[in-house]
Amino acid sequence: MTGPDTMTTPKRRHASLDPGPPTTIVLFGATGDLSRRKLLPGLFHLVSVGLLPHVRIVGTSLEDHTQESFLAFVRESLMTFEGQVSEAEWEDFSRRLIFAPGGTVESLKSAIAEIERDLDGPQHRLHYLSVPPKGALAVIRTLRDSGLVENSRVVMEKPFGVDLESAKALNAEVHEVFDESQVFRIDHFLGKEAALNILAFRFANGLFEPIWHRNMIDHVQIDVPEQLGLEQRADFYEATGAYRDMVVTHLFQVMAFTAMEAPTSLAPAAITEEKNKVFRSMLPIGPDDVVRGQYSGYRNEPGVHPESETETFIALRCFIDNWRWAGVPFYLRTGKNMAEGQRIISIAFKEPPKSMFPSGSGIGQRGPDHLTFDLADESRMSLSFYGKRPGPGFRLDKLSMQFSVEETEWSGDVLEAYERLILDAVRGDHTLFTTASGVERLWEVSAGLLDDPPPVRPYARGTWGPNQIHQLIAPRAWRLPFERAWREH
Ligand code: BG6
Repeated sequence: MTGPDTMTTPKRRHASLDPGPPTTIVLFGATGDLSRRKLLPGLFHLVSVGLLPHVRIVGTSLEDHTQESFLAFVRESLMTFEGQVSEAEWEDFSRRLIFAPGGTVESLKSAIAEIERDLDGPQHRLHYLSVPPKGALAVIRTLRDSGLVENSRVVMEKPFGVDLESAKALNAEVHEVFDESQVFRIDHFLGKEAALNILAFRFANGLFEPIWHRNMIDHVQIDVPEQLGLEQRADFYEATGAYRDMVVTHLFQVMAFTAMEAPTSLAPAAITEEKNKVFRSMLPIGPDDVVRGQYSGYRNEPGVHPESETETFIALRCFIDNWRWAGVPFYLRTGKNMAEGQRIISIAFKEPPKSMFPSGSGIGQRGPDHLTFDLADESRMSLSFYGKRPGPGFRLDKLSMQFSVEETEWSGDVLEAYERLILDAVRGDHTLFTTASGVERLWEVSAGLLDDPPPVRPYARGTWGPNQIHQLIAPRAWRLPFERAWREH
C-alpha cells in the first residue's frame, strides 16, 4: 500500500534501543486532526522500524466509529501521511489497535481488558490526551474513575492554561489525580532533531561554548514565520493568538536550549533545572517590547469575530537577566500567512573592535558573523564570516560553512518530533517535556503583556509583518528574508 507522499528513503530499523516496557497507549481524540496527521502515522512508523515493539493502542473519541470504521480511518491516515505501508506492516499494526467508543469508563475498561487479555502482570499505560483544553480535565477524571492512574503516564497537549492563574488551576487539578512524575507536557519543538542538535553543538564541542555569552554575542533571533493560515482552526486560534500558540510555548522552549547553562548531566532533572533557570532569569515582557499584527482579511475568516483583536503575528524583544546574557536582546517573531515558512535561530556575533581593512573593502557591509540553526528536519547549520575575495588588493565578502543532515548517511534516520516524544514518554524519559513550574513562570513573565496588549497592526498577507517590526529591532535588522539562501546540495 502506498500513498501520495511515498518516501524514497528506505526504512531503517533501530532495534538496539531499549524498547521500554510493554505499554498500552490510550489515545484520546484518536480521530482528530493531530492524531490523523502526526500521532497515528508516528506510532505506525515507530512500530515498523522496531522502536516500539511492545505497544498496543486503544483509540477513543467522541465521534461515532465502529472498530471497522476506525481501522479504515487509521489506514487512510497512514496512506496520506506515512506513505510507505506494506500489507505485512498494516497487518501487524492493525492487530494492535482497538476502538473504545465515546471514551466512557465502561468502554475504556472493556477495550483495555480485551487488548491486554493475553498479557500477564500489571500493565503500563500511556494516556495521550489529544483533546481540546476543556476536554483534558474531563478525561483526567474519567481515568481516575476507571482506575487507570496507577502504572500510567499521561501526555498532555498545549495550551497549558491561558495565563498564570488558569495554568496554576489546571496544574492543581491534574496533580489531584496524577503525580508530576507521571505527567508529560508535550512541546513538539523540543522533539525536533534540530532542536536537540543545539544541545549537541553547544555541549559536545570545546569550540563554541567559550564564545557563547554577552562578551561575544550581540543578539539572538528566533524567527518562525509561517505561510500557513488558520487551517480550519478559527475557534482555537481566536481564543489563542500567536503569542499563546507559539511564543509562550515553542519559541521560549527553544530559547531555553539556546541560552541555558551546561547541565550537570544529560539527565531529565538536570536539563529541566537549567531550562527553568533561564525562565526564572527572564525579565517581564511588557507592551513596549512587542509588536502585535493581524493579517488583512483575518476578520472576514469564517468563525472569526468581525472586530477581533486576536494577533496572528507577534514580534518581541526579551532579556535573560543573568551573568551570561545580561543586556543581550533576544528577538522572537512568528505569524500566520507570512512571506515564507522558516524556523531559524540566528546568533549574531559582535563585530571586531577595530578594522585594518580600508573602507571600500566590504568589511561589515553584510552584517555581523552569524551562526544559524534551521529547525527543519535537515538540521541545517551555517556559520558565516568575512573572507578574502580572490584577486589583487583586499576585497572582502561574506562566506559560510554549512551543514545539512541531508548530506549525510543518516538522513533516513530522522525521527519526526512527535515520534521522538512518544518514544521518550513510553520509556519514561522526561528530558524533552515541560514542567508545571516552567510553564507557570512563562505565564508570569507574560502578565504585563497579557494584561495590557498593544493594539494589533494590520499586515498584508505574504509579508514579514507590520512595519513597526523594524523599529523594534533597530539599529539591528531581521535576518529573514535571507540575503544569501542556504546552499543547495
Ligand atoms: C503548533 C501550532 O503547535 O505548531 C500551529 O498550534 C503551528 O499553529 C505549528 O502551525 C507549527 O509547527 P511545525 O512543527 O509545523 O513548525
